Amino acid sequence: MAQRRHLVAGNWKMNGLRAEAERLAGDLAARARTAAGGCDMLVCPPATVLAAVGAVLGGSGIALGGQDCHAAEKGAFTGDVSAEMLKDAGCSFVILGHSERRHGHGETDAEVRAKVAAAWRAGLAAIVCVGETREQREAGTALAVVSAQLAGSVPEAASAANLVVAYEPVWAIGTGLTPTLGDIAEIHGGIRARVAAGTRVLYGGSVNPGNARDILALPDVAGALVGGASLKAEDFWAIAQACG
Ligand code: PGA
Repeated sequence: MAQRRHLVAGNWKMNGLRAEAERLAGDLAARARTAAGGCDMLVCPPATVLAAVGAVLGGSGIALGGQDCHAAEKGAFTGDVSAEMLKDAGCSFVILGHSERRHGHGETDAEVRAKVAAAWRAGLAAIVCVGETREQREAGTALAVVSAQLAGSVPEAASAANLVVAYEPVWAIGTGLTPTLGDIAEIHGGIRARVAAGTRVLYGGSVNPGNARDILALPDVAGALVGGASLKAEDFWAIAQACG
C-alpha cells in the first residue's frame, strides 16, 4: 500500500469560545491556503464550536474532528453527542479512548470499541488513543498495556482508511515530558505489527515545535496528536511543517 501522508491533529480539549476558536482556525486556514502542506492536518475543537470552526476552515484542506462520541445513533442520552451528529457538523474524524476519557471518565476498552463501531457506522475515521501510565512504564509493561488496549478497543473491521492509532503515554500528556525516541520507536513498532498495513500511528504527549521533527522522523511515526501546542496557530503550524 502506498505510504499515507502524515497526519498532524490538534486536540483542543475543553478550550475555545467562539471568537477565539474562529481566530485560531482562521489563522491556520490562512496559512494552509497559501503554503503547500507536507502533511494532512486536522483540528478537533469542542462540540459547541464545530460548525463555526468548520465554516472558517472551508476550502483550506484542514479537516474537522470531534473529541468523543456516544455509541448510540440517537436517543435519551442527556449531554452526549452521537457520531452521526459529528458527521452532520462537518467532521471526518473523531478521537476515541483519549486518556482523559479512559482515566477521567472511567471508559473501558469495551466502551471505546462500541464508540469506534459507532464512528464507522456514521462514516467517520476513528483516532483510537492508547498509552501506559507512569507506573506501567516503570514496571516494564508499556507494550503489553498498549497491546491489550488495542485488542480491546478496535473492532475487527479496522483498516488503514477507517482507523488511526495514537500512542499517548498518560504521563507525557500535558506534562512537558516525552519518552525517549527509542521508547517511542519500540511502542510504535509494536502497534504497527498489530494493525492493518498502512494504518497511521500517531505519537501524542507534549509534542511541541522543538521536539516534533525528531519524533516525526521516526520510521513508524505517521504524525502527531497535539494538545497544548495546538492552541497556538504558530506552534501547531510549526509542528505540521516538521513533517518534512
Ligand atoms: P499535550 O496533549 O500535547 O498537551 O500533551 C496531547 C493529548 O492529550 O492529545
